[in-house]
Amino acid sequence: MAKHTQATWGGRFDTGPAALMLRFSESASFDRRLAPFDVAGSKAHAAMLAHVGLITDRERDAIHAGLDAVLASITSGHFHWDERLEDVHMNIEHALTTRVPAAAKLHTARSRNDQVATDMRLFFKHASAAIAARVRLAQRAILAAAEAARDVLIPGYTHLQRAQPVSAAHHLFAWMEMLERDHARFGEVADKANVCPLGSGALAGTTLPIDREFVARALGFVDSKGRPRVTQNSMDAVADRDVYIEFAAACALLGVHFSRIAEDLVLWSSAEFKFVSLPDAFCTGSSLMPQKKNPDSCELLRGKSARLQGNLHTLLTLVKGLPLTYNRDLQEDKPPVFDSFDQSLLCAEVLEGTLHGLTFNRERCAAAVADPALLATDLADYLVARGVPFRKAHHAVGAVVALAERKGCALNALSWAEVKKIHGSFGEDWASVFDLGRALAARKGTGMPGPAQASRQFARWSKTLA
Ligand code: ARG
Repeated sequence: MAKHTQATWGGRFDTGPAALMLRFSESASFDRRLAPFDVAGSKAHAAMLAHVGLITDRERDAIHAGLDAVLASITSGHFHWDERLEDVHMNIEHALTTRVPAAAKLHTARSRNDQVATDMRLFFKHASAAIAARVRLAQRAILAAAEAARDVLIPGYTHLQRAQPVSAAHHLFAWMEMLERDHARFGEVADKANVCPLGSGALAGTTLPIDREFVARALGFVDSKGRPRVTQNSMDAVADRDVYIEFAAACALLGVHFSRIAEDLVLWSSAEFKFVSLPDAFCTGSSLMPQKKNPDSCELLRGKSARLQGNLHTLLTLVKGLPLTYNRDLQEDKPPVFDSFDQSLLCAEVLEGTLHGLTFNRERCAAAVADPALLATDLADYLVARGVPFRKAHHAVGAVVALAERKGCALNALSWAEVKKIHGSFGEDWASVFDLGRALAARKGTGMPGPAQASRQFARWSKTLA
């Protein structure tokens, strides 16, 4: 094979890489989306090199102008990506070299190892903010759905058995809490990402007099007081993939929350429940059964959560046995990260769209929540208020339920005489318990489903999401 010199590292090689090896090792096909971050990192690096006198101001300016031009050609789609140049870093540097002679000085005191670590941290800050903003939009759709169903009551479930009455808004606000924690989690991931690794070199820094804090400041790796944040160990900085894993974990958990919300909607929209109808625009029909309206957006939200968990697992496995520091395996960290980002954004958007067209079926909800058995616990509380120990009260109400079941009647269709025989503490007013309005109003403590708390939560979410 003729000597094929690889521009960036070919000096010690007799032959270039095989075509198969090039295809196997290239990452430009997927890491090209890092281009804006790579260019930002290179501009900050060049500015620092000029600041410490390793290049001239003129060289810096030429490099900056050249990088802007390269990025413009990438964003306009005219850039020629070359797999022989492996990755986004070398493609950009090579393109710069053809325009600007000083480009040969850009990689001074830098390695692709600290370069890619920097690009990715910039990416995580951007990606976390983008997902957090999308989660906010989904939360607004939840709030709108809750507002539209403000007076709707439904049974709450445990074990998928009717348990106790709640307002539909209370159920939707449970989803809201889940997403609120996700929103915060992406803020935490962005904060973890907010430390600059540039200057770590390949693994052992550099002998050249660089200014790491200058670069960190230029790239916005600063704390709340504007002080630069830089990594404290050059080996850790190029080997560490914690933030990737934390980002993927935040996406996986968001996916699990979306999946649980989706599952509620799948159940609620079935003929068996029929609590809600989903918007046609997010459902599909059957090619065989003309009557079908399938909740595909919700099913896919459930399905995508498996994929998001898979990406997290890929990253954990990728890193687990690696010796310090950088190993080429780590190039495989990007596809799962990018996939988690893309799919999380998409899922949030689809949930928002599905919720926007959600309508509650008031008659069905009212019928389901009218079952007096849902207030069996309240009946036990009634006895407790009359001094009966809860365990005894629970037992007595159990007997009342059994009697109603034997007679095939509703709980509140039993007579006072019948229940009094079961427990002497049942008063003549025992059936007043079976008033949903009263039952809800009594649930007035923080976090409970009563109307007083609902008003508080509506106010809170309106303010948070304004
Ligand atoms: N494309 C590489 C990656 O994503 C960049 C770092 C390459 N470093 C190296 N020593 N070959 O991991």
